[in-house]
This record gives sequence, C-alpha cells and structure tokens, in this order.
Amino acid sequence: MMRIVLLGPPGSGKGTQASALARRRGIAHIASGDILRGNVKEGTELGRRAAPYMERGELVPDELILDMMAERLAEPDAAEGYALDGFPRTVAQAEALDSRLLEMRQRLEAVIYLEVPETELLRRLSGRRICPNCNAIYQLATMAPKREGICDACGAELIQRKDEQPEVVRTRLQGYARETEPLLDYYRRTRLLHEVDGTIGVRSVLAEIDRIVKESAAEAAGKREA
Ligand code: AP5
Repeated sequence: MMRIVLLGPPGSGKGTQASALARRRGIAHIASGDILRGNVKEGTELGRRAAPYMERGELVPDELILDMMAERLAEPDAAEGYALDGFPRTVAQAEALDSRLLEMRQRLEAVIYLEVPETELLRRLSGRRICPNCNAIYQLATMAPKREGICDACGAELIQRKDEQPEVVRTRLQGYARETEPLLDYYRRTRLLHEVDGTIGVRSVLAEIDRIVKESAAEAAGKREA
C-alpha cells in the first residue's frame, strides 16, 4: 500500500509525475486542482465558492478543501493507495491529513519535492495545454499531442488553463512561497521529505521517484520486521 505526496511550485510537474506514478503502481491519482476544476465546470456549490479564488490564483480556503479531500480520500480506489497532487498545500492541510492517517492507522511512504527554477516554471506554464475531459497534460515544446490541439488519450479539444495569464501565475507563485513552502520544513522534520531535481526530463524524474519509493517501502518493511 503506497501513499505519496507530490510537492512543488506551479508547473513543477506534480500532475505529470503523479499521473505516471499512479499508472505504474496501480494507485489513485488524486489531484485537488482537477477536482476543483471539475466542480467549477459542473457548477456545483463547491465550484461556485472556489472559482473566484482560483481565477485570482489564490488558494481556496482550507475549510472547503478539507471537506472535499476527506470525501475523495474515503472513496474505494483510495484504499489501494494514492499519489496526492496539490494537497496538502498549507500546514493546516498537512495536519488534517496527518490526523486522518493516524485515525486510519496508515502512514505516508514519502513526500517528493520537485525542485524547478522560476524561469523554467514560467516557460512550462505558458506552453502547457490540458485536456478538459480526461485531464491529460501536454507541453507544446516537448510533449505535444500527435494531432495539434487534440488529446491523444480521448480525442477532446485541448485548452489552456484560465489561471495561466502572467499576473495570475505571479499570484500563484507568491502564494506558493508564502503558504506551501513551509511544508518543506514540516515534512523534513518527519524525515519523509525527498528533494528531486524536477528539471531532468519527465522519464528521469519518474525513475528517481520510483527509486525513492522503493527504498522507502523497503525501509518501512525492515522497521516492521525489527
Ligand atoms: P493546481 O491545479 O494544483 O495547480 P498548481 O499547483 O499551480 O500546479 P500546476 O497544475 O500548475 O502544475 P504541476 O506541478 O501539476 O505541473 P504539470 O505536471 O502540469 O491548483 C490550481 C488552483 O486550485 C490553485 O491555484 C488554487 O486556487 C486551487 N487549489 C488546488 N489545490 C488546492 C489546495 N490544496 N488548497 C487550496 N487551493 C487549492 O507540468 C507543467 C508543464 O510542464 C506541463 O506542460 C508538463 O508537460 C511540463 N513538464 C512536466 N514535467 C516536465 C519535465 N520534467 N521537463 C519538461 N517539462 C515538464
């Protein structure tokens, strides 16, 4: 059973890696941003409340996120393990996740921090296209779809996210530095944090995460036997 958290600034590759890891390991890919965008698209009460924050590039208030994630983590597929992408993102969210894990007598295997410099983040975000139907992620420069503007996986028309305008990206990066970076120390203290160079190419990053996850699992098994 594997539970992983992907941490990193906007555009660092959390979604790309969480999706690949989930496929490879047969675990759920749980992306708070995808769940929120789905709610906005469907016009749910949560979507209506979250949309103004997302459009400005600000974090959605913790109380909305915590209810949403508690519900998602209770779904059957999460029982097989998960890769969390975009959650937790504040210390309050990390504490809530820890309480839930304690209650369920579960633990995280590892927290992976994808380190990418800001110039590269800005380049990636301006060239990203996503599928609004199946959430597949593309990059015009290096991971373009086979047919221009069309999702390889499901054939839907690709879009650019609404929060990709430069001023909104700036707000997202500032919010990350203020609210999410403190989580690095939070997880350093629990010895769960692993820092990975997020610039080395998608496959190389995945191989590095895979290595960390295997080592963490072996270490945990060793501790249980001792
Ligand atoms: P969310 O959807 O989570 O966005 P984010 O964290 O800003 O991250 P991104 O999705 O932009 O980037 P990513 O790290 O997943 O990178 P990706 O793999 O796409 O959140 C959106 C909004 O929802 C927030 O602003 C907030 O309002 C709200 N929200 C969500 N969760 C919340 C929470 N917990 N609390 C409060 N509010 C919340 O990759 C980026 C691009 O780079 C792609 O084009 C990809 O193809 C490319 N790429 C990836 N890896 C590589 C590589 N190694 N080399 C070259 N290119 C690469």
